[in-house]
Amino acid sequence: MKDGILIAYYSWSGHTDKVARIIQQKTDGKLLRIKPVNEYPADYSRCVDQAKKEIKIGYLPEIEAVPDYFDSYRTIFIGSPIWWHTMAPPVLTFLMNAKLTGTQIVPFCTHGGGGKGRFVADILKQCSNSTVLDDFELYGSGGRNVEVDITYWLSGIGIA
Ligand SMILES: Cc1cc2nc3c(=O)[nH]c(=O)nc-3n(C[C@H](O)[C@H](O)[C@H](O)COP(=O)(O)O)c2cc1C
Repeated sequence: MKDGILIAYYSWSGHTDKVARIIQQKTDGKLLRIKPVNEYPADYSRCVDQAKKEIKIGYLPEIEAVPDYFDSYRTIFIGSPIWWHTMAPPVLTFLMNAKLTGTQIVPFCTHGGGGKGRFVADILKQCSNSTVLDDFELYGSGGRNVEVDITYWLSGIGIA
């Protein structure tokens, strides 16, 4: 039987990591940071260029192995920075490998002001055999109310 909460996420510059950690504190879930085998360039414009090319062709970068027990979780939060209006490619690799079924998926993202774009729609495409709950989006690292906003969202979806 599926049980427990996993928070799987990728973060390049730390904003999504911050949200993931708050979710972890509020839910007592387990954190799983998705790591590409070849990390993206630290230089912003080089990273943006590489991401643009990858997303255009649907490239799936190799990610570091994730423990196979993750499929036993009942609820999996999926977090990503918004890159070119969708999830960062390592998160797509994770979802494609995971082939989740019968899981509660909870998307969350941070962005630079352009909103979540196709993020949730693209998660729905990959998770058609799971239930996708209402998502949370944040501009950058958020303001002073981030924790309150996250608490409010979590209670709205019936978690924590
Ligand atoms: C490669 C790349 C592409 C991005 N594309 C978008 C975008 O399409 N829309 C947007 O609002 N922000 C975009 N941003 C900004 C990030 O989504 C934003 O800074 C996010 O909070 C970063 O999360 P992180 O610190 O967890 O990596 C982009 C940033 C990068 C590096």
